[in-house]
Amino acid sequence: MSTHKSQKVFIKSYGCQMNVYDAQRMADVMVGAGYEETQTQGDADLVILNTCDIRERAVEKVYSELGRMRESKKARAENGRELQIVVAGCVAQAEGAEIIRRQNAVDVVVGPQSYQELPALLERARLKEKAQIDTEFPPVDKFDLLPKASGPAIRSRGVTAFLTVQEGCDKFCTFCVVPYTRGAEVSRPVAKIVAEAEQLAAHGVREISLLGQNVNAYHGVDERGRAVSLPTLMRRIAKIEGIERLRYMTSHPVDMDDELIEAHGELPELMPFLHLPVQSGSDRVLAAMNRKHRVDAYLRTIEKVRKVRPGIAVSSDFIVGFPGETDAEFEETMALVREVGFASAYTFSYSLRPGTPAAEISEQVPEDVARERLHALQALILQQQTAFLDGMVGQTVDVLFERAGRHAGQIAGKSPYLSAVAVAGDASLIGKIAPVRIARVTANSLVGDLLAVEAA
Ligand code: SAH
Ligand code: SF4
Ligand code: F3S
Repeated sequence: MSTHKSQKVFIKSYGCQMNVYDAQRMADVMVGAGYEETQTQGDADLVILNTCDIRERAVEKVYSELGRMRESKKARAENGRELQIVVAGCVAQAEGAEIIRRQNAVDVVVGPQSYQELPALLERARLKEKAQIDTEFPPVDKFDLLPKASGPAIRSRGVTAFLTVQEGCDKFCTFCVVPYTRGAEVSRPVAKIVAEAEQLAAHGVREISLLGQNVNAYHGVDERGRAVSLPTLMRRIAKIEGIERLRYMTSHPVDMDDELIEAHGELPELMPFLHLPVQSGSDRVLAAMNRKHRVDAYLRTIEKVRKVRPGIAVSSDFIVGFPGETDAEFEETMALVREVGFASAYTFSYSLRPGTPAAEISEQVPEDVARERLHALQALILQQQTAFLDGMVGQTVDVLFERAGRHAGQIAGKSPYLSAVAVAGDASLIGKIAPVRIARVTANSLVGDLLAVEAA
């Protein structure tokens, strides 16, 4: 196994969109080191598990996957072929050497701030025949150390793209591991982001989702060294030829300032979809979670956004069964959901994360109680989601077509509200934005009729 040429890398990503973005950057690093990317795990000489630490179940998944991979590694070794295994992402950062203690088939453990080191770490693991760990937080902008994505790689990734503009979190919600796994909040400089967006546009990307664990706290510096807000950054990116749509996630309610709210009314490229996690409808629980905002402030923010952008789709994250949550407090969450009316939402049962402040609270909610609350909340959200989609029927919306649909002869894309929409059509539609009259709802998505295709 002396040469890297023709070796294949497979990356399996869990967790949030930032992990999806990081997976692409890791692929770029490995392609730069002579590897070829494969979509088939069985073909790979190198498998990278890009892990998520957010809930206990996510972590268990990593260890069961590693158990299976250890068997593949053994089987390949018997055929004289090597399989290298890397654990990246938030579990790598949180557990470090513990991963190698639990699973000695792992060759490299690498944290989210050190992906540029991957080829060197793999080489060292191979030469020293000893697992390597790098979970440093270097005091530099890691993005600048990563190679620029190569043209063909970007092209094959489609017409929508993620672009990380901010990483880390200083909020320290008492249930959450992110401040520990991703470190302090850091914003990338404007010039770097604009350059990356221009490169994406040049390769056919038409919609960019700006990413950050706290993206609306963005405060990167511009070319003159002045701190720039997220709306100002979005206005810069919106000017790039070819970029027709912008989105951002995930936002924290306390950083939802008037300038950002107004951008929803003023910036046509900014899509009418807002993901604004609230977690709970109880002020007592919000305080215990250290969310730094109250229910009425959240409701006021939603009201203001709806005023400047009527019809905007609002989505959220909820945790039920936070330690000490009473039935009455859970009912306050249900009341908030009824009041807001969400287009979609992610709902989670509280998962105890060792090392976080909430893990120390003694009154944990019994599992069956939490499960019951989760089901009740999910039923209500599903009702609202269905109502939102039903409300689209008969409307005409612009769809950006991204890929082949689920059925033959169908092409699928997204509405401005982030709903999946399918129409009868062929691959020439991909990358185009066209008006579609919505005809019906099928399993969480919309089906419609194409009205006209823009000139190329
Ligand atoms: N930075 C984002 C996303 C954080 S993780 C934000 O602040 O919203 C995504 C979601 O996972 C969170 O919004 C929360 O709802 C959920 N989550 C985080 N930690 C959790 C835990 N310990 N148990 C259950 N859900 C959790
Ligand atoms: Fe976690 Fe809270 Fe930071 Fe979101 S804001 S990443 S939930 S600590
Ligand atoms: Fe998971 Fe890390 Fe994202 S814990 S949600 S992969 S920031």
